[in-house]
Amino acid sequence: MYKIALLPGDGIGPEIIPQAVRVLHAVGQRFDREFQCETALIGGAAYDATGHPLPEETLEVCRNSDAVLLGAVGGPKWDNLEPHLRPERGALLPLRKQLGLFANLRPVMVNYALADASPLKYDLVAGLDVLIIRELTGGLYFGEKRREDLPDGGQKVVETLEYTTQEVVRVVRLGFEMAQKRGKKLTSVDKANVLESSRLWREVVEELAQEYPDVELNHILVDNCAMQLVRNPKQFDVMVTENMFGDILTDLASQLSGSIGMLPSASLGGGVALYEPIHGSAPDIAGQNLANPLATILSVAMMLRITFNLEEEATAIERAVDGVLQQDYRTGDIMQPGKIRLGTVEMTDA
Ligand code: NAI
Ligand code: MG
Repeated sequence: MYKIALLPGDGIGPEIIPQAVRVLHAVGQRFDREFQCETALIGGAAYDATGHPLPEETLEVCRNSDAVLLGAVGGPKWDNLEPHLRPERGALLPLRKQLGLFANLRPVMVNYALADASPLKYDLVAGLDVLIIRELTGGLYFGEKRREDLPDGGQKVVETLEYTTQEVVRVVRLGFEMAQKRGKKLTSVDKANVLESSRLWREVVEELAQEYPDVELNHILVDNCAMQLVRNPKQFDVMVTENMFGDILTDLASQLSGSIGMLPSASLGGGVALYEPIHGSAPDIAGQNLANPLATILSVAMMLRITFNLEEEATAIERAVDGVLQQDYRTGDIMQPGKIRLGTVEMTDA
């Protein structure tokens, strides 16, 4: 039996999560697997019901599960709350921290049927399949910060970029392991020409590489990497990088596909993994059966493959997604002339 915590959250979250669950149960029926789901509150929905965006009860449900499937949190209704009560700051960051999720995996895939919608030329992106792994709990975002007044009336700020060997080892190892399961190519992204943290990063990568002789390893500087992701993204297979570089590169890469409603993600590290679409709660289209459920459905596929080791089941979902796109079915966000427009529920039916 597989235990999954469901956190629908806000906006389109409560629309897309039940659709992904329908797909999960369809897979369960076909492959004779039992998925046991428990739903809990998070984000604005949790704040409205309990006064806190991440209630202790929700954390308990997550800790007692094998994996968490999250919709999205946030919306204008909660924007003016104090920072620690706002859905993203008060729920998402603490949830990742509590579950010890140190690696964020974002596949960037461009389906042949949708490659026309990319801002890049068809041939550059059609069939693209890159996996970016971003370190999630270290680096500049979590280092010591301070601000001082200067005698000249101005101020001085200090941000600290900290990494320990062990923090680098665990995320880079994941990179090598993922590369072994995919195209056997790993690109490590750093800024070793100027940053001491990047030099440590590179030393760790070199040392771990000895254990993975079947993986072809490359180092690339982050600025060149940004350029190459736009020039020739298909040269990459798995990429691994530190927190801030990964934050920027994953957003850049997500746009290669031209549609935020298609991309899943996974956050790994502790005993429980978290799966979620990369998009937010889309309040502008919430409650109208307009949301594209495919990013969430593909997040379920990632969950089946990574946490439950159910490769065949994961592939079945990905094939189904390919199939509906080839049959010209589209939600509004990926609509093209001459295609068939479907709502959230109907896309899931298809
Ligand atoms: P967003 O990703 O929610 O929406 C951006 C645009 O993409 C909107 O026009 C939206 O309608 C569209 N869109 C997003 N997902 C879609 C889907 N599945 N199908 C069709 N169209 C889709 O980002 P935005 O507007 O910046 O943020 C809205 C709220 O979501 C904010 O409160 C923000 O803080 C929150 N947010 C939450 C995240 C999370 O829970 N992980 C991540 C990003 C934003
Ligand atoms: Mg970001």
